[in-house]
Amino acid sequence: MGAFVIQGGKPLNGNVRVSSSKNAILPIISACLLTNEECHLNEIPGLDDVSYMCELVSYLGAKVEVDGKSRKISVKTPELTGNTADYELVSKLRASFLVMGSLLARSGRAKVALPGGCPIGSRPVDLHLKGFEAMGAVIENGHGYIEAVCPSGKLKGANIYLDFPSVGATENLIIAAVLAEGKTVIENAASEPEIVDLASFLTKMGANITGAGTDTIIIEGVERVYGTEHTIMPDRIEAGTLMTAAAVTCGDITLSNVVPEHIKPVTAKLRESGVEIIEYESEIRVRNNKRPVAVDIKTHPFPGFPTDMQAPLSAYLCFAEGASMIVETIFENRFMHVNELKRMGAQIRLDGRTAIIEGIEEMQGAQVRATDLRAGAALIIAGLAAKGTTEVLDIHHIDRGYEFIENKLQRLGADIRRVM
Ligand code: EPZ
Repeated sequence: MGAFVIQGGKPLNGNVRVSSSKNAILPIISACLLTNEECHLNEIPGLDDVSYMCELVSYLGAKVEVDGKSRKISVKTPELTGNTADYELVSKLRASFLVMGSLLARSGRAKVALPGGCPIGSRPVDLHLKGFEAMGAVIENGHGYIEAVCPSGKLKGANIYLDFPSVGATENLIIAAVLAEGKTVIENAASEPEIVDLASFLTKMGANITGAGTDTIIIEGVERVYGTEHTIMPDRIEAGTLMTAAAVTCGDITLSNVVPEHIKPVTAKLRESGVEIIEYESEIRVRNNKRPVAVDIKTHPFPGFPTDMQAPLSAYLCFAEGASMIVETIFENRFMHVNELKRMGAQIRLDGRTAIIEGIEEMQGAQVRATDLRAGAALIIAGLAAKGTTEVLDIHHIDRGYEFIENKLQRLGADIRRVM
């Protein structure tokens, strides 16, 4: 399953270009199923999750052409050849559930394996289903599959209030509403930048969407949508992860292909801990020369502190002066990195969804295991600053969401290598 071997203590210096966003491209690839015309997507990150989503839409009838050199893919679905996303595919990628909205909009029916849980939580999809039902779909849940059918053949616009501003439910329902009859209003919608990027792509396809990026999104259904071209937004979580790596190693790096607005909550926390951060139009410079000061973190939907940055920042705060309180409000089990960090000497106490981190001056390199994507990133961050050698195992989790992370870090001066 591969491992990263890291010699700690090397400050990161130099320039790095952030890849495009995993969490933006996955719903956009699903949305390509809405049209029989060709969609061209640029700046595609080389991630396992992107490959899985391309595999899924191909299975459903899309012709996917990947040009790795120019980092572009084209997706053209002359007709759907299936409307079932089977368990074998969905179990590899939870975000596969995002094809339900496209399949319902394009064909009036969808059968998608229930994604099931993952290390960070049970990951229910009840809010997605409640929205589809409001739009006229009849939902059956059996044998590990969700089957949805529109008796009239077409979804109808509806007023939907999300009990929780779920990112995935918001994305699935926007996609479904694009070709519905009439107007759909989604209230208490998620406002993450990835929602805005999806809406921007759909609008270029000919959809009629207003309010993306706010908690109320209005979609006026249209007869059909068309092929288009789109460049995926930068990955704000990769940006935050690299910023944190620079801070923990007392380095000085400049990140390009960044939207500073997208990562403000992380910038604010790093500044509060003593890091110097300079924001430019599409670049961020991170400079640090001292041990962090402890800060408290509470995760929230955007524009609050992003749950995906909780583990990476927790690793950084293990080195802080003082005690930090971390509260994870989004997922019920997102402290899998804690036990691994404790193997490196971290002083962390868990109480339900709260972690108290007593900072220490030095962590010890150790053999640790990535349990999920962001926990793996946290272990890399800890290893970059720990004394001695850290070996991070099961790095396939990390490859899902960080494109060639070891190459980016090597170019910044880190002593990290991938061993198979
Ligand atoms: C997206 O997951 C991201 N994944 C996650 O990133 C991210 O952590 C999460 O949003 C929150 O920002 C992708 O975009 C592919 P949610 P998603 O629906 O859509 C509950 C990463 O590391 N909920 O906003 O699954 C759910 O249990 C990944 O890149 C329901 O109760 O997140 C959770 O507690 C991890 N019912 C909370 O909402 C539902 O129907 C947030 O889930 C849906 C969600």
